[in-house]
Amino acid sequence: MLLGQLNALASPLSQEQVQKLQGLVAELNPIQQAWVSGYLAANANTTALGGVVGAAPSAGDAAALTILYGSQTGNSKGVATKLKEQAESRGLAVKLVSMSDYKPTALKKEKFLTVVVSTYGEGEPPEDAETLHEFLATKKAPKLDGVKIAVIGLGDSSYEFFCQTAKDFEERLNKLGAETIYQRADLDVDYDDEAATWITGALDAFEPDLKAQQSTTGGQVVPFGAPAIAASQYTKQNPFAAELSLVQKITGRDSTKDVRHVEISLEGSDITYTPGDSLGVYFLNDEALVDEVLTLTQIDAASQVKVADEELNVRDALIEKLELTQSYPGFVEKYAIATGAPELLRLVEDKAAMREYIEPRQIFDVIRQNPAKLDAQTLVDCLRKLQARLYSIASSQAEVEDEVHLTIGLVEFEAFGSEHFGGCSGYLARRAEEGCKVKVFSEHNDNFRLPANDETPVIMVGPGTGIAPFRAFLQERDAREASGKNWLFFGNPHFTQDFLYQVEIQGYLKSGLLSKVDVAFSRDQAEKVYVQDKLRSNSKEVFAWLEAGAHFYICGDANRMAKDVHQVLIGIIEENTGKSKEDAEQYLKDLRSANRYQKDVY
Ligand SMILES: Cc1cc2nc3c(=O)[nH]c(=O)nc-3n(C[C@H](O)[C@H](O)[C@H](O)COP(=O)(O)OP(=O)(O)OC[C@H]3O[C@@H](n4cnc5c(N)ncnc54)[C@H](O)[C@@H]3O)c2cc1C
Ligand SMILES: Cc1cc2nc3c(=O)[nH]c(=O)nc-3n(C[C@H](O)[C@H](O)[C@H](O)COP(=O)(O)O)c2cc1C
Repeated sequence: MLLGQLNALASPLSQEQVQKLQGLVAELNPIQQAWVSGYLAANANTTALGGVVGAAPSAGDAAALTILYGSQTGNSKGVATKLKEQAESRGLAVKLVSMSDYKPTALKKEKFLTVVVSTYGEGEPPEDAETLHEFLATKKAPKLDGVKIAVIGLGDSSYEFFCQTAKDFEERLNKLGAETIYQRADLDVDYDDEAATWITGALDAFEPDLKAQQSTTGGQVVPFGAPAIAASQYTKQNPFAAELSLVQKITGRDSTKDVRHVEISLEGSDITYTPGDSLGVYFLNDEALVDEVLTLTQIDAASQVKVADEELNVRDALIEKLELTQSYPGFVEKYAIATGAPELLRLVEDKAAMREYIEPRQIFDVIRQNPAKLDAQTLVDCLRKLQARLYSIASSQAEVEDEVHLTIGLVEFEAFGSEHFGGCSGYLARRAEEGCKVKVFSEHNDNFRLPANDETPVIMVGPGTGIAPFRAFLQERDAREASGKNWLFFGNPHFTQDFLYQVEIQGYLKSGLLSKVDVAFSRDQAEKVYVQDKLRSNSKEVFAWLEAGAHFYICGDANRMAKDVHQVLIGIIEENTGKSKEDAEQYLKDLRSANRYQKDVY
């Protein structure tokens, strides 16, 4: 129906709204009208989805390229967004959809599909990809004969199961009949350049068929997705140099842990954040280590080298641009070839031995134990680009305005007779001086959000530095005067040494913002007690909160704590409902689908 013919009786609009719409349309040229129609469609979708920006979970459109992404910390989402932009610039119709918003049954309507997905844990999918990943392996998954696909994986080669989820997706889609038309790429942490190359190659492969399909279906290219929200100009690629205002140790003198409360000023930037987001922080490697590496490799500190497109001296490159701590097989392999060290060359052939070798070593340990004269550029080419570390934001802007707070555990350990520190935590806790500049960017995380309804109760499980986002949640709920109940589970080794933000937590308990706090100080008694034990001993009440609509959050250690808490939750559901384990797992899956079970684990 044309707008000129539109009247209030034939539409869901009031007469006044029809007039306004007609007035607006009269002012727009055809391109502006097409843009507004895309905007409104996306906006309607966004509202229906409870605020998921840019999602297009409609059924498959045969003339469009569907880009499905599964992303925990935003990297795959970023690559998927670039893929969408490049496709649109070629005049291709595209739908960009988070896997968490995608109805698996829409698969059978797809013709052209790309998957961008990261990997977590022991080769597991990110949270938002779990349901689809699992569905594809079930009998319910549809036949996909004739569907053309391309898959790109983001991962970290320091993990054993490198890009496993991307491999799974491709294998499962192929098994259902889909044809890979562009080779899968498994990309490491410094993925930017290779992702750009893959995007060009994949679109070259899709374009002829997609264009043919578009012309036969009369497909019109209407850009899908909301127009970009005014995002900060400061990103991972273009971070903001922010002032480090405060670094304060918040564990006791006798603690086995060194945890720092860090405050950074965002003044002068346009960076904003929401509780649940993380802050990306770049750091400088330890100058003493860099000088030792240069001595061990007999490289002159002033030698000029190239890192990506930038020319600088090798010393600065090692301090600012390259990883020297987090080890991974790729470095050992390149260093083995560059130096010809026989012990290292043997490892290249033996994956298991390689894993065992890198486990206790940082990169400079490998160099220390295998010194060799090298050319400066050769050393640089062995190393990967330094990556920002992410930290869960521990503050709400409703309370701290243009500051951002973090809770950082110093990574420190003894190995081979010397003390070792994490690259970023070591920099912030030991070397950076208050008042200096640190490069930062904010990383949005729509998968870890307070409920939109302030009356909804929340249960937060955050032992150790896992407390960080819950400090932000509590500040936010306090500022919003949210009436929903809040229950915090916190744990650490000792009450007297390790009760992070104790005064604040007790204050919130007193003011009533926190309805309940359960603490597990594991080493204060003969029997170890952890947050999962506290959950178990509150089984009835935890379940009653869930039944009353509570959202359940976990933050902190991914390896053990988050898994144990998950298992205990299943037990709680079984116990209180009489359900089988399978049905209890389904109960949790349903919670997750409703965004009521969210994790921020690392
Ligand atoms: C979304 C997200 C949120 C996060 N939030 C927080 C947070 O709020 N607070 C926080 O503290 N961290 C947080 N982290 C972790 C943080 O990003 C860093 O991984 C952490 O600070 C370590 O970084 P680093 O540069 O100090 O150490 P790196 O230089 O990266 O070194 C760490 C590496 O050292 C090695 N290593 C560690 N201990 C030993 C040992 N005993 N023996 C041998 N090798 C060892 C391991 O290989 C480890 O991967 C978060 C991570 C993610 C992904
Ligand atoms: C706790 C944690 C576990 C991870 N486990 C793996 C893994 O098993 N295999 C892998 O290839 N990458 C692993 N990674 C690396 C991520 O997949 C990588 O950082 C990726 O770029 C994240 O993309 P995303 O932001 O889209 O989720 C892990 C990262 C974290 C923080």
